[in-house]
Amino acid sequence: MTDMRLWGGRFAGLPADAMAALSASVHFDWRLAKYDLLASKAHARTLRNAKLLDDQELTRILDALEELRIEVANGVFHPLISDEDVHTALERGLVEKLGELGGALRAGRSRNDQVATDLRLYLRDEVRSLASLLLGLQEALLAQASQHADSIAPGFTHLQHAQPVSFGHELAKHIHAFARDLSRLRDWDKRTDFSPLGAGALSGSSLIDDPRGTARELGFSGAIANSIDAVSDRDFVAELLFITSLIGIHLSRIGEEFTLWASREFGWVTLADSYSTGSSIMPQKKNPDVAELARGKSGRLVGHLTGFLVTLKGLPFAYNRDLQEDKEPIFDSLDTLQILLPAVTGMIETSQFDRGRMARSAPEGFALATEIADWLVRKGMPFRNAHEVAGECVRFCEANGIELDQCSDAELSSINPLLTVEVRDVLTAEGAVASRTAFGGTAPVRVREQLADLARAMGSDRAWANSVSSAH
Ligand code: ARG
Repeated sequence: MTDMRLWGGRFAGLPADAMAALSASVHFDWRLAKYDLLASKAHARTLRNAKLLDDQELTRILDALEELRIEVANGVFHPLISDEDVHTALERGLVEKLGELGGALRAGRSRNDQVATDLRLYLRDEVRSLASLLLGLQEALLAQASQHADSIAPGFTHLQHAQPVSFGHELAKHIHAFARDLSRLRDWDKRTDFSPLGAGALSGSSLIDDPRGTARELGFSGAIANSIDAVSDRDFVAELLFITSLIGIHLSRIGEEFTLWASREFGWVTLADSYSTGSSIMPQKKNPDVAELARGKSGRLVGHLTGFLVTLKGLPFAYNRDLQEDKEPIFDSLDTLQILLPAVTGMIETSQFDRGRMARSAPEGFALATEIADWLVRKGMPFRNAHEVAGECVRFCEANGIELDQCSDAELSSINPLLTVEVRDVLTAEGAVASRTAFGGTAPVRVREQLADLARAMGSDRAWANSVSSAH
């Protein structure tokens, strides 16, 4: 077998098996092959501009790279155990096709700038596909929220009944969280829009003219202005690991809600059979595994972020092999979300919420006490006193085992003479919810406006997700 190492020249023999096994990355970086070929095509043109290749050589190289692209895509060309990484494997493929000319492409670049370029290109595509999945989830939430703008449910603080809310409002809060995630992805993309190619090992190139042309050809808006930074910066990986972690955390909070809501004690939601699992011993069981996995996977996403931050901490400049540890965590985080998001979307789409049950429990736990206080404030009482009076009502009801709306007129006025019969008007969960008309509040009329605004923002995010990141 020919030695395809890209660095064999000064070495007396082959690496030890244990060395090669540790060093190899091709089993996980092969997914960058498409982008490595794309960058190679751009680099070949750069070498032609620098007169290091003639037109005929350029054509032969571009044709061979295109052949290789097709062979990689349909699995005809694949890496060997002996190929250290994706760059080695593809150079082998090129040399197999072109002989010596295949080795000409290495001029003016290094694996250090190559891998940083490939990873940026790959992630810019992946982020758009992640954005599409997030939008799918937002759409599922939006559809349910629109159905439930008028559904009344208990709202919680400290996991205790606090004040009633529109259940559509409750669902819509998640759409906002994912809208922020989408905005983070778009913002990330702006900073990742610069090409490291041309930085070489670390100091730039004496052979090529201007990496900015290569950068534009690859769909970047510019080249990185410092070659040392170009090969050593992995902020774009760390940032994306943070964004994927936060998406994971948002999903985990949905997971927790659905797990709780699906319990017998709550009984707010019935999950579709197709998004539930059974028990191997208890025949009656129907478990909310999608929701639990959504909750559980966040641990691994956060783990990848913290692990990689530790890899980066204190690392000397410029390239160090430690940086190869950037790929598996970010690949796994993206793969995890690719699997998780469609399942959570499906679970939400197919969920049946029990309006009646939510509405019945909405006023329970004296959740209308704030309504009494607010009503007294509107009658001119300072809130401090109004809070006291409403508190006395709660104490009275608690002692008598009734809810606030079950007090008689006489009982109310005996607690405080200002509590006339009109206070009853606000003592319904529907009334309480409908009265929260200030911007951002839970009144159904505001919730509908909120959902319309969200739908508009989703349109803009959708256009971005469908935009092409690089020149392919
Ligand atoms: N597989 C390496 C990585 O992922 C490619 C760069 C190798 N560079 C080097 N100087 N050994 O980081």
